[in-house]
Amino acid sequence: MPSEIIQIDDNLVLRTATIDDAEQTVELNRLVHGNPEKNEPSDDVAAWTADLFAGYNDAISPSDFTVVEDTSTKQIVSTICLMLQVWNIGGIDTPMGMPEIVGTHPDYRRRGLVREQFDLMHQWSADRGQLFNTILGIPNYYRQFGYELAIDAYGGSMTSLDLLKQVSLKDDEKLPFTARDAERSDAQFISDIYKNIHDRAFVTVVRNPKIFETELFKRSEGSAWNWRARILEKDGKPVGVYMYGLEKNDNRGIRVDLFEIDKSINWLDASKSLLIDLQNLGKRFKFEGEIRAEMFEFSFGQNHPLYRMYREPLGVEKKPYAWYVRVADIGKLVTHLTPLFETRLAESEMSGWSGEVRISFYKDGLQMTFEQGKLKSAISTGFIDRKDASANYHDLTFLRVLFGQKSFSEMREMYPDCFSSDHAMRTLQDILFGGPLPSAVLQVS
Ligand SMILES: CC(C)(COP(=O)(O)OP(=O)(O)OC[C@H]1O[C@@H](n2cnc3c(N)ncnc32)[C@H](O)[C@@H]1OP(=O)(O)O)[C@@H](O)C(=O)NCCC(=O)NCCS
Repeated sequence: MPSEIIQIDDNLVLRTATIDDAEQTVELNRLVHGNPEKNEPSDDVAAWTADLFAGYNDAISPSDFTVVEDTSTKQIVSTICLMLQVWNIGGIDTPMGMPEIVGTHPDYRRRGLVREQFDLMHQWSADRGQLFNTILGIPNYYRQFGYELAIDAYGGSMTSLDLLKQVSLKDDEKLPFTARDAERSDAQFISDIYKNIHDRAFVTVVRNPKIFETELFKRSEGSAWNWRARILEKDGKPVGVYMYGLEKNDNRGIRVDLFEIDKSINWLDASKSLLIDLQNLGKRFKFEGEIRAEMFEFSFGQNHPLYRMYREPLGVEKKPYAWYVRVADIGKLVTHLTPLFETRLAESEMSGWSGEVRISFYKDGLQMTFEQGKLKSAISTGFIDRKDASANYHDLTFLRVLFGQKSFSEMREMYPDCFSSDHAMRTLQDILFGGPLPSAVLQVS
């Protein structure tokens, strides 16, 4: 990556980071992501930053960080990084850039330092062919940089040990599957079995054995993203996996972020094994003094098969937050996803349709041209007069439909200024964009 140097004002310079910036960036992140009211530094974000500078995550190196330096004090006062990932949208691998660990020193806030760095990040993202950006960030803030909350994130439920105890074995009953801690050599198995997630959810993240190995075995123990895994086995053969993190900040419990099984076994047996194993795991960590193990959280969304097998033991619903999504060139992304739209059309009442779909976002627009069911072009048009539009969505709300969070019909109910030119075009919006579709995003951090 070429080194960037942008003079922001007399004393402030925005530039690409180098390995020499590691220590200061780590310390800045320790400070800004902590809790100033309680005077608590964020050691976990500091450890995560240090890991990234050390090259633990293949998708990011020091030159993927930007820093703003106060040249009068030689102190780094603001920073961001950009992580390359591949996400899968409806079966199609799609490169994505994720800005992360966004922070400015309290003395330098509200001077546009993050805005400047986002402008540069977005340029990097376009140069690298990333077709969209996502960030899991503070409420509303990232809308000003062209993002919309458009993909569900980390919904599920929270439960207690007492509720989990409802799942137990009868005296003469054997656990369907035994469980053990994952080992490095399981990375390939975990990666293979993880692929099932792409069949179950519309938006997912592509991972390989190396990514799992890093996440599970290379990260610093205290990193903000630190997972462990348990392997479910049948007759000594791995048949399932669950990945979890310890909620050490509040010293509360265990959060399960991923649960996948081999197609040779069923979800009822696997879910029972998971829920009993979790109880034992809680006792183990409590005994070892790692956590109090009072709370168990499931963060892979309520559309997961676990929720079709059990309900009461899984406790109260945890509403999802959402991923902010930004698409710099909507025509380019839609073109990339061409097979998705052609398949949906082919499987619908409008198979083989020819015509133009003009979608207005009021200040911007998208035109999709179909010929006998084939998507011949998808282009960003700029302004489309509402009289000429097949459908209207205000501003960035279309992203919620494109990424499957809502259907057009649902948006129509929510927003009076979301509507179509006629009934057939309304139906066509629902055909082309489907929704609502479950997503299961576990980002690579
Ligand atoms: C949130 C944070 C990163 C913003 O950094 P910053 O350098 O002050 O941001 P900027 O000045 O570039 O923000 C751009 C705009 O947002 C405004 N803004 C800044 N912080 C804001 C906030 N908390 N709420 C609403 N608007 C805010 C700025 O005024 C600016 O608007 P303008 O360009 O119209 O004047 C910083 O407050 C911080 O480090 N907070 C603690 C860590 C954190 O929460 N990080 C984000 C994790 S997702």
